[in-house]
Amino acid sequence: MTVAPSPRVEELLARMSVADKVGQLIQYFSFSLPEGATSDVVGDVAGQPRAVDAALDAGGVGSLLFVTDPARINALQRRAIAGNAHGIPVLFGFDVIHGLRTILPVPIAMAATWDAGIVERAQAVAAAEARAVGIRWTFAPMVDIARDARWGRMIEGAGEDPLLGGIVAAAQVRGFQGGGADRIPADRILAGPKHFAGYGAALGGRDYDQSEISDQELWNVYLPPFRAAIEAGAGNIMAAYMDLNGVPASGNRWLLTDVLRDAFGFEGFVVSDANSVKDLETHHFAEGPTDAGVRALQAGLDLEMAIADPAFAHLVDAVESGRVSETELDTSVRRLLAAKEALGLFDDPYVDEEAAARVLADPAHRDVARATAAASAVLLRNEGGVLPLDASALSQVAVIGPYAGSKRDTLGPWVFDYDLDETVTILDGVRARLGTAVTVTHAAGVPRVTREFPSLFDMFEPPVPPTGDPDELIAGAVAAASAAEVAILVLGENQEMIGENASRASLELPGAQQRLLEEVVATGTPVVLVLMSGRPLDLRWASEHVPAILEVWYPGTRGGEAVADLLVGDATPRGRLPFTWPRSVGQVPMHHAVTRSHDPQKQGQRYWDEQSTPLYPFGFGLSYATFSYGEVAVSTPECDRDGRIEVTVELTNTSAIDGVEVAQLYLHQRSGTSSRPLRKLTAFRVVELAAGATERVAFTVGPDQRRYWSAATRDWTLDAAEFEVYVGPDATAERSATFRVR
Ligand code: NOJ
Repeated sequence: MTVAPSPRVEELLARMSVADKVGQLIQYFSFSLPEGATSDVVGDVAGQPRAVDAALDAGGVGSLLFVTDPARINALQRRAIAGNAHGIPVLFGFDVIHGLRTILPVPIAMAATWDAGIVERAQAVAAAEARAVGIRWTFAPMVDIARDARWGRMIEGAGEDPLLGGIVAAAQVRGFQGGGADRIPADRILAGPKHFAGYGAALGGRDYDQSEISDQELWNVYLPPFRAAIEAGAGNIMAAYMDLNGVPASGNRWLLTDVLRDAFGFEGFVVSDANSVKDLETHHFAEGPTDAGVRALQAGLDLEMAIADPAFAHLVDAVESGRVSETELDTSVRRLLAAKEALGLFDDPYVDEEAAARVLADPAHRDVARATAAASAVLLRNEGGVLPLDASALSQVAVIGPYAGSKRDTLGPWVFDYDLDETVTILDGVRARLGTAVTVTHAAGVPRVTREFPSLFDMFEPPVPPTGDPDELIAGAVAAASAAEVAILVLGENQEMIGENASRASLELPGAQQRLLEEVVATGTPVVLVLMSGRPLDLRWASEHVPAILEVWYPGTRGGEAVADLLVGDATPRGRLPFTWPRSVGQVPMHHAVTRSHDPQKQGQRYWDEQSTPLYPFGFGLSYATFSYGEVAVSTPECDRDGRIEVTVELTNTSAIDGVEVAQLYLHQRSGTSSRPLRKLTAFRVVELAAGATERVAFTVGPDQRRYWSAATRDWTLDAAEFEVYVGPDATAERSATFRVR
């Protein structure tokens, strides 16, 4: 956002004391947790709201998070304004990750649409609902690149690739904000791309652990989605928790100032992650809370998100002792107040409680959720055309699995304000779609697994204890499958096995699900595996023995209807993988844009006990329609370094079904200042093609597509070289052409 000098902000700054200013730079959680909740981190959870009230009464709060009830938001706002010497309202923020009341598919699912329009529309729904209850800022989108499936937060991002990640990030920012951050419409909210930067590279996939990222990976892979989000107008950025190459992100001046402000021109405000300023001491970086507060502020962090005892409270003394100047404080306060002004908070700080209920109930929002879920599912296998099911020819269907009828799992993680009553499970969806002429039986098949190690996050949602004996449940599922014409197995991971603080050391189907799958397949009844997950799971056996596999992610409030639409062919699968799907956990981290370091003959044979290739490539996804690609043509065989080449291909829908193809262009530079990836996603087009139709698809490859940061020169580079372009349906695209850059 552009922070134009505002007379109102300057006039306020002139009147504010140092303590008033420091208060604006503190954001507190305002919890309302289940009765009796406790936490090692928060300590006295019951007492925390009282501490926040005291801070509000003393004018010491700039922002609050975690409140979603409009009446509570208004009450807290009244208190804040009354307690503040200048009547400055607080800014309410929340993790609106994939919807507030209407739950959309999880972010990785939205990315799997590869469709900026769909993503933007979906997040506009989330924004409208959040704004209606008084939330004016979301801690989203998460734009961290994720290449390690053990890391649970890969579900919150757009996968492995910086180009797709940037396009999805920008679409989300537009959806949330409706445009730039300097004036946000009354049905939109401020977006806060996170976690700056490199959080997705956590060592071993262990959430919060340090990231070690080379400079070339930072500039070429991890930073571009942030840049795209900033260029789309994002008004806020959240700093990450972890050490990046040995320096905590929240106290990293190079990251928060040299890169974010100087290189990317970001003018909005930077918020810490929860407690990440205080954590500078935990990192053994700062020597105490004052040092932590001072170093975070001076690194470029403006607002501290704190559960209790913020380190920024010590900034009052730091100004007094001369460690921090009032001018430095003013810079951050100015950014905060500018955001409040852009959000209309000074003129209109309260929310219309009655209107909120209407917006939250809007049926159009449910339609968007359903359409987004249908567009996000990825068909991974469909041997013998098992799908779509011919609903008119069926009389008995078995729907099996611990997630088939689980409303909570259907919604996925990172949601709090959902309505379970209106949530449509896959079992509900299939029953409704097949109607009374078809008998639909249901068997859980296996107990839903529980955590092996307790988590802090249990305080938000107490763990559900497992029920039932696996042997008996599997026997019941086998009986149901044997009696049916088709068995739909809904397997995957509990929603709480993925997301924050939810790393896994294995990618296997948890619990007894693999056994269930094998025993149901052994009945001989055709099986459709519907996978609910936010990360790739180990499908080596399934990919050879289960005829149809449909990844539906956590599809949200109307997910069951969307999945039923896909299963019977009322909708055609069109999602594509936003990440490379490994065969097993031993292969991770894995992604498509690798360089070739040695003899190509050895590419496929590195592991003693596994192939080196993925199970499914990046960009992959089947459809009920089929497509063929013609020859790839380049507009000219040679161009100058700043020249552009147009690449075209004829794409034909060779089936009798209308469909959507994601035509992908991968680039390979054959020599240069650095070695370049064999295939790097460089452009893509989402093409709707009617049955039998042909379209000429065009892509531009210009300097922006060829430029990269080289560790050889420690700078951006545009090489003269020969290039290969590949166009096709995924990262194994074979059709190619070459051109030369002089
Ligand atoms: C911690 C998470 O890392 C961050 O993504 C989130 O926005 C905050 N908690 C607030 O809930």
